[in-house]
Amino acid sequence: MAMRKKKKTTLIIKNIGQLVTMQGPVPRRGRDMSEIGLITDGTVAVSGEEVISIGKADDVSREIDPAENCVVLSAEGRVVTPGLIDPHTHPIFAQTREVEFEMRLAGKSYMEIAQAGGGIRSSVRDLRQSGDDDLYARAKKTIELLMSYGVTSIEAKSGYGLSTESEIKSLEIIKKLSSHEPMDLYPTFLGAHEVPDEYRDKHSDYVSLVINEMIPAVAEKKLALFCDVFCEEGVFTVDESRAILEAAKKAGMKPKLHADELKSTGGAELAVEIGALSADHLVCISDKGIDMLSASNTVAVLLPGTSFALGLEEAAPARKMIEKGAIIALSTDCNPGSSMTESLPMIISLAALKLKMTAAEALSAVTVNAACAIDQGDRLGRLDVGLPADIVIWDMNDYRELPYHYGVNLAETVIKRGKVVISG
Ligand code: NIG
Ligand code: FE
Repeated sequence: MAMRKKKKTTLIIKNIGQLVTMQGPVPRRGRDMSEIGLITDGTVAVSGEEVISIGKADDVSREIDPAENCVVLSAEGRVVTPGLIDPHTHPIFAQTREVEFEMRLAGKSYMEIAQAGGGIRSSVRDLRQSGDDDLYARAKKTIELLMSYGVTSIEAKSGYGLSTESEIKSLEIIKKLSSHEPMDLYPTFLGAHEVPDEYRDKHSDYVSLVINEMIPAVAEKKLALFCDVFCEEGVFTVDESRAILEAAKKAGMKPKLHADELKSTGGAELAVEIGALSADHLVCISDKGIDMLSASNTVAVLLPGTSFALGLEEAAPARKMIEKGAIIALSTDCNPGSSMTESLPMIISLAALKLKMTAAEALSAVTVNAACAIDQGDRLGRLDVGLPADIVIWDMNDYRELPYHYGVNLAETVIKRGKVVISG
């Protein structure tokens, strides 16, 4: 029970059967990932945008001073958690790519489609022809859906523009969405997502363009907190990725990396070497990469929805990584090519079934550890006094229903910074 007096309570959530606070170590590693700070018969009190009291119902109600128009919600004995955090999304695109999905069902691989001119490059052609308002409206739909599934903060990448102008345009849309919509978007510059059509014969010129023109332009406009690279065989090499991320670091953006997704290239090792905030995918991570990640503060963001939607059997060695002490987060990878979903709870089900992660471990992965992957470990992913009131009331009596009851939306009420934004 903790309390800050004086402030009037503007929102109370009472009758919480299981209050998952996620209080405890940040980040969570190894066995600590099973600790979810569970309080039974709990209450949360909010003043304005932040939690002012949280704990056992009796203790909280004794302490608080409700404002005249205080909103009182009853969880009716069900589960309450912090708002979930999705630390890897590609929401700024113009068109979906269901045609490629069917091509994959017919036997083509993701890389075959990409190398034949489809994949990311087809999304680039679509985005460049699209107006800002259309792109904004399309992305708004995506973030509203994400929020309806209990997500209150996301990392959001550019990466379907691949020219200075259209990368800036994408990042400006992310900025506008973050200031106009309830969702908080943490922006990542992903100019090195692919080599666009006009640079196919001049691969190294494109790397130079990213380093010498795009990164300075993005930094000057302060449009991105992070910089990411798709480090993969046939896309950007480890050396190119290192050069791009070093330049980004110098310009004030923290590195992230799409690493070891389809082939083992040493991406995880590079992420640690360069002090990246996160290394993402890691389906093909080497043993050395696991050891290096486990001894580092780089978050391993696992994306089991991507392997699922690409029809691949392989999965990141999550159990081994947890045992060795790596910081594991989970994400949708929401994008039109390899993972067209806005359901983070579905990813939690896949993490259970494909990565053998428990409900408690998965909750750590989409709250405190996901917060670390977006450099917000000190303030997001937990419910505690003085922290943002990003809260979800779930239509379940036990948090372990989250992976078990799959493919449906059990997020009933979503509260962002103390305001009800989705009401069940
Ligand atoms: O994370 N791997 C690179 N980027 C995305 C796919 C993007 C796309 O195909 O449009 C991913 O899987
Ligand atoms: Fe991705």
